[in-house]
Amino acid sequence: MNYYVSASILSADMLRLGSEIAKLEANNIDWIHFDVMDGVFVPNISYGIPILNQIRKKTDMYLDVHLMIIDPLKYIKRFDEAGADMITFHVESASDTMETIKAIQQTECQIGISIKPNTPAEAVFPYIELVDMVLVMTVEPGFGGQKFMDMSGKIREIREYADKNGRKDLMIQVDGGIDDKTAPIVRSAGANVFVSGSYLFKAEDMKESARLIRGDANAE
Ligand code: DX5
Ligand code: ZN
Repeated sequence: MNYYVSASILSADMLRLGSEIAKLEANNIDWIHFDVMDGVFVPNISYGIPILNQIRKKTDMYLDVHLMIIDPLKYIKRFDEAGADMITFHVESASDTMETIKAIQQTECQIGISIKPNTPAEAVFPYIELVDMVLVMTVEPGFGGQKFMDMSGKIREIREYADKNGRKDLMIQVDGGIDDKTAPIVRSAGANVFVSGSYLFKAEDMKESARLIRGDANAE
């Protein structure tokens, strides 16, 4: 299993986004995590399709789009056209989960489904065979810089279920409060994709911080 660090650009300097992305490239960051918030599904509003489009023109990095919006089904095609490589949506959204998975299957994008801290692991079990990744939120979605909530139990349940059901390759992503202290906790529970915003962008040595999050699990 490969380990990836996905940098949440919610914590980037938006007025210098081009050079922030160049910095991610220069520091061997694996993916860019793009948080879309609509002010309805979560109590915050971030950015959307036009910005993603501009980022796509600027970099070949893998674009991991996290939709925190009430009706993701309506926008799958547009995020695909804007350059997403993976589209992750919430099972708690108002869109039908199966229909939304089918809509992403119509694109070239990989498929992610996400659950908030109060949603049980079982909520994703019916879809395990159909998705590339499950995102287990380790904070209530909406803001960067929040305190990590330990979701190890849930991650273990999902990893065990996936292993038993022929999905040893399932990626499990964690998002919220991930740093050098919290990453090892969720990594040992079975997570392999680590979103990091404030920790990574504040780091003095971004490359080393990413290495600590990955746990040096990948040979460089
Ligand atoms: C929160 C977002 C996260 C956030 C993570 O709703 O989904 O991706 O940017 O930021 P940190 O790493 O600062 O908790
Ligand atoms: Zn996110």
